[in-house]
Amino acid sequence: MYSLLVINGPNLNLLGTRQPEVYGKTTLAQVESLCLAVAKNTGDKATCMQSNHEGTLVEAIHDARGKYDGIVLNAGAYTHTSIALMDAISSTEIPTVELHLSNIHAREEFRHKSYLASVAVGQICGFGPNGYKLAIEALLHYLAEAAK
Ligand code: DQA
Repeated sequence: MYSLLVINGPNLNLLGTRQPEVYGKTTLAQVESLCLAVAKNTGDKATCMQSNHEGTLVEAIHDARGKYDGIVLNAGAYTHTSIALMDAISSTEIPTVELHLSNIHAREEFRHKSYLASVAVGQICGFGPNGYKLAIEALLHYLAEAAK
């Protein structure tokens, strides 16, 4: 059984009402329920948290050491700006899947750059809320392969 931490960053608490044409109508509570259900279905465990604060997200990654086997991270706009989050992932060496609801590569140029991509196991973007399911499945598969 693997324990996963699903982290959502700034403005994702507004999911459902925030630019629904870009991010859809699914709320954060629904996304989190989906994550819990996907992990439960495979006999694993997911824990979800959200913060609008960069330092809180850095500390959540630090605190994940020894508690979680992997992280699914939608860092929102910090993806494109935060060397601190990139360093937190590489310092803790917790396998992390970078996730975005929207296809960041098909949007404004400033969203094409991700500081997290170089330290993440991989990136999933453009699949809306279903991306969380894909990210959890990909992370579980990665962890199982790494344990062989
Ligand atoms: C996002 C994409 C980011 O560019 C944006 O700042 C977000 C959400 C996504 O899930 O598509 O806040 O991470």
